[in-house]
Amino acid sequence: MELNLRGRRALVTGGSKGIGLAIAEELAAEGAHVAICARNAGEVDAAAEGLRATAEVVHAQVADVTDPEAVRELVADSARALGGLDILVNNAGGAHPGNFETLTDEDWRADLDVKLFSQIRCTREALPHLRRSGAARVININAVYARYPDPSFFATTVNRAACLNLSKALAIELAGDGILVNSVNIGFVVTPQWENIRRRRAPDLSQDEFLGKLAAQEVPLGRFGDVREVSGLVAFLAGDRASYLTGTSIDVAGGMGKYV
Ligand SMILES: NC(=O)c1ccc[n+]([C@@H]2O[C@H](COP(=O)([O-])OP(=O)(O)OC[C@H]3O[C@@H](n4cnc5c(N)ncnc54)[C@H](OP(=O)(O)O)[C@@H]3O)[C@@H](O)[C@H]2O)c1
Repeated sequence: MELNLRGRRALVTGGSKGIGLAIAEELAAEGAHVAICARNAGEVDAAAEGLRATAEVVHAQVADVTDPEAVRELVADSARALGGLDILVNNAGGAHPGNFETLTDEDWRADLDVKLFSQIRCTREALPHLRRSGAARVININAVYARYPDPSFFATTVNRAACLNLSKALAIELAGDGILVNSVNIGFVVTPQWENIRRRRAPDLSQDEFLGKLAAQEVPLGRFGDVREVSGLVAFLAGDRASYLTGTSIDVAGGMGKYV
């Protein structure tokens, strides 16, 4: 299937590892020019080095998406390096652990900042560039927990619901400008963040035992997903074959989530 991504200009936040890096690699393999950001400079450099093996143009920048000034610079510098922007993948994120009684106001604010406000800020800054593109896309990486409340990821489950609403409202708002906005909702996908979660929640189990137990409880397909199972869908949404898709919310979750 021809996605027509050759020469398209994509910014992937949180592109240094995990799902974000897989998305940047997939877009690069399709011929796109890619920009990535994250906070850890060494990991940003290593990811950029790997991407340069495939992509013609790579821009890598250390930036914290919770810092409005850093986001302004990130988007401006990425657009300058790539010659514009066609695709924004709002992927950067992380979990703030805790149940309702242990999460402080500060935890809630920090979680909202990295999930909801990062998507708001990056999209707002990217808009002038996306309006000049003939094939503009915003793809928001979200979680199945947006529609499937789970108190063991309390802040995530509440704040991801707001992200889902943001995607749909933006899709309606920006349709007239030809900017397509979609949400990709992750269930359980193996990435570095799961090692941190295991250390906190089940230090006595091996990673395989921990992931296997969670998957058996929650995932009809019985296993965690692989990052490549997310990146393929994102590339499809970024490409020309998805030209009539906006405001959609697609789960990549092996059937996880008890809702219709
Ligand atoms: N993996 C899953 O099962 C799962 C499930 C549901 C939702 N998700 C969502 O999918 C997205 C990717 O997750 P992942 O599993 O790939 O996580 P990951 O392996 O921890 O990677 C997260 C990426 O985001 C970057 N990042 C985190 N906070 C940032 C910040 N404030 N500013 C800039 N970059 C930041 C990280 O780099 P630095 O730390 O160096 O900044 C890294 O590049 C996240 O939004 C996550 O919430 C994942």
